[in-house]
Amino acid sequence: MIGKLNHVAIAVPNLEAAAALYRGALGAKVSEPLPQPEHGVTVIFVELDNTKVELLHPLGEKSPIAGFLEKNPSGGIHHICYEVPDINAAAERMRAEGKKILGDIKIGAHGKPVIFMHPKDFNGTLVELEQK
Ligand code: CO
Repeated sequence: MIGKLNHVAIAVPNLEAAAALYRGALGAKVSEPLPQPEHGVTVIFVELDNTKVELLHPLGEKSPIAGFLEKNPSGGIHHICYEVPDINAAAERMRAEGKKILGDIKIGAHGKPVIFMHPKDFNGTLVELEQK
């Protein structure tokens, strides 16, 4: 069912420092910070040939990554995102497999429908499925 790795999202305590690290030490192509108030994060995209890395920093009062950064003050991998051809079929399959979907299907950071799967069902990793 899953296709390409769409992105790896890393929560970072300092966006500027993280951007400088990827641009400098790793020589990566790094975007400007993009505030996404509806998702409670500011994102910097690191463009790779085969996928991307998203550096996430909390934005606003109820950021979904604030708690994660409290537990992981130096940052860490927050989730990975796989592409699926059909989000409704993917959600159906996850339910049939007895896997817990966090919330409902929603429109994700790229304007595409996504679901998030509970880490307890996926080896401790928060998994995002995005319709390609
Ligand atoms: Co994501």
